[in-house]
Parts: sequence; C-alpha cells; structure tokens
Amino acid sequence: MSYENAVEAAEFIRSKYAQGVETVVVLGSGLGAFADDLENAVRIPYESIPHFARSTVEGHAGELVLGEIDGRPVAVQQGRFHFYEGYDMEQVTFPMRAFGQMGIKNVILTNAAGSLNTEMTPGSLMLISDHLNCMGVNPLRGKNDERSGPRFPDMTAVYDKELQDIVVAEANAMSQERFESGRDKELVDFLHRGVYCALSGPTYETPTEIRMYRLLGADAVGMSTVPEAVAARHQGMRVTGISCITNFGAGMTEEAINHQEVMETGARVAEVFKELLRKVISRIHQTG
Ligand code: HPA
Repeated sequence: MSYENAVEAAEFIRSKYAQGVETVVVLGSGLGAFADDLENAVRIPYESIPHFARSTVEGHAGELVLGEIDGRPVAVQQGRFHFYEGYDMEQVTFPMRAFGQMGIKNVILTNAAGSLNTEMTPGSLMLISDHLNCMGVNPLRGKNDERSGPRFPDMTAVYDKELQDIVVAEANAMSQERFESGRDKELVDFLHRGVYCALSGPTYETPTEIRMYRLLGADAVGMSTVPEAVAARHQGMRVTGISCITNFGAGMTEEAINHQEVMETGARVAEVFKELLRKVISRIHQTG
C-alpha cells in the first residue's frame, strides 16, 4: 500500500469535497448515527475510493461522510475495516493514510468496548489515556516510507493531552447542563478515563483472559482503534479516543456477551455521545 496510493485516495476525496477538513471522526459499532448530524453532507461509499479495501462481508463496508458540524467541515468514517474481518493491517490503516494526505490534523477515534472495571458500567464512556496493543501484530510492520513518518515512531503520548483536556472539560460541562436542566436527576459523571486494550477478535474473551488483561493494566477491551491510532501518530496527527462501554468483560457478570447487546448499548448512549462529539469538535476548532 504505497504512499502514492494514499495521495491518490486523498485527491479523489478532495475532488468530491473541496473544503479544508481538519478533523476526522471514526465511528465505532452502534455509534454510526453521528454521521447523520452533518449538515451539507457528501457521502462517499468506500467502494468508490481508490485503494480502499473491498468489503469482504455482505452488505456494505461503510461510507466516508463529509459535512459540517456547527459550520466546521469534518470527515466522518461511518464503518471501519477490522483486522478480524481478514483485512491486513495496511488495509485497516489505509483510510488514516488518506486522511493524513488530505492534511487532516485531528483524529477522534471511537469504539464499543467491554469494561474490566466494576465502576465503569455499560452505557458510560471512557476517554482513552493510553493503549495496550494485544492484537499480535504491529500495524506498521513492513517497509517504511519516510514521507509518511519515521521507522521507529515514539509512542510515549499517543493520545494528545490537549485533546484529552478538551474532552474532559466538555463532558463535565455537559453533566452540569444536564443536571441543571433537569434531564438528569443527579450529577452523572459519565466519562471515565483509562487504558484501552486492543485484541484481534473476533471471539470475545474468556473470563481468564479478562483477568489477565486486567492484570496487564487494561481498563477496557475491544477489537479496533489501536491500528488507526498508531498510523495517525506515525504521520504526526493529533489523536484522541473515546470508548462506549457496552458490557462488562466476560466472567464479570453471570451473563454471556453478545453482539446484539453491544449494538443496543451503543444506540442507548447515542444522544449523549453525539452531543459530546459535537461539543468537542467545536472546541477543537476554536483552539486551532
Ligand atoms: N470484548 C471485546 N470487544 C468488545 C467487547 C468485549 O467485551 N465489547 C464490545 N467490543
């Protein structure tokens, strides 16, 4: 997957949407509704973008939606390429390569995740402070093109401190507003902060694996995000990540985990989640 391919994809996207986009949002499972909030939206199916992976699953892989949030142009990836679907890491990270070539500076990664922390209940959100890559492969394995970034990129601060501060401040303001307006009966602290552990999937974990990941320092587990975060940092983009906690990790409750529950919890928090994203995007663009 060459540098030239990413340039070509970026040029194609720009030919469909000429406005300068500074921020991209990648939407996780069950969180796709945010893309419908964009004004003056242009939708580009992944199939039509040069060098984007072809969908291996039935239905469509997704769309890139470009449009405005409060007058600010943003790109929204509705649907992503997961490693467990059989794509290789170059295919999984290719959209991020194209976004880098488009000159996008800020990346907001979202996902559905299982909680390893009894305090962090389904329906809450977790701001990603750092990650553990337990996918068994590094997304940058292979030939490096210095035009994209260095061979050995630093990963000391993958998740940008300034963006984290913005997410926390906006979440706190939202809690306050919701309480004062009577929408919430008490002050709800819905945003946690923790370490996201990426696994290759597609199985959910065994209870013993969940205990192991907790011992390793994980607060949440999921099957995405880390490849994109690494590719974005490699290119010097600013990254922030928000997990929607959809369930407790295997063995933490009596119940089995199923995809239906994951999707339903995503839909349940959609309103809060969309509001937070909108506020964060507005703030990012104010601070430049
Ligand atoms: N494990 C892995 N990925 C997930 C989970 C989980 O419990 N919930 C949502 N995505």
